[in-house]
Amino acid sequence: MKLLMIGDVVGQPGCDYLRSALPALKRELEVDLTIVNGENSAVGNGILPKSAECLFDSGADVITTGNHVFKRREIFNYFEDRLALIRPANFSAECPGTGFYLFETVRYSVCVINLLGQSFMEPVGCPFAAADRILSEVRADIYIVDFHAEATGEKGALGWYLDGRGSAVFGTHTHVQTADERILPNGTAFISDIGMTGPRDSILGVRPECVIERMRLHVPTRFENAKGPCVLQGVLAEIDETTGKARNIERISR
Ligand code: FE2
Repeated sequence: MKLLMIGDVVGQPGCDYLRSALPALKRELEVDLTIVNGENSAVGNGILPKSAECLFDSGADVITTGNHVFKRREIFNYFEDRLALIRPANFSAECPGTGFYLFETVRYSVCVINLLGQSFMEPVGCPFAAADRILSEVRADIYIVDFHAEATGEKGALGWYLDGRGSAVFGTHTHVQTADERILPNGTAFISDIGMTGPRDSILGVRPECVIERMRLHVPTRFENAKGPCVLQGVLAEIDETTGKARNIERISR
């Protein structure tokens, strides 16, 4: 089966571009399952029911999130309506939503897991332990992990820790696509970060002037999305559904 994973969709420009580009891309690549990271899809950061609907309408089968998932309270109840929207599994069990989603077809089942890193991030439960727990509790043919984390070392550690148990471990959050995609020795497709979907001439999707002002003058500035052309970034992975091993992983940037 072919799996498409799309990097952090940023604001209205990212949502609009995804809507215009994803349907044709899925047809072209003959994708079976599409996972989109949507934690920055709302205007002003976080995720709202409206931006989540846009991602689902554009062709996302599962939406993963990260550290900004609970920034907007409007999303809290939405988790009950849309189980395919997930949040990091290593948040408290009392938080809204769940940390994995089971995508089932007649031929195979895919457990999509969302985890959050601990390095240079807000305190959160152990992602390694959360992965172990879900892998032991949820039966599926294929396990896919979106590891939303800052540090490449931590992302690599989780990739190698899950090698042979997960079919793919892909990083999100930095919005910068890395060139380290590979199949690990026991068959797990891995990449540190799959990139972002949003304005190309930007700093992580934000207008450069806003970021430069905050860095230079240490004053709070409003982060606005940049204007201009957008990019859609992610990876395409091919998984053998009988063994759960990855056959191929390839970067996408359009
Ligand atoms: Fe993030």
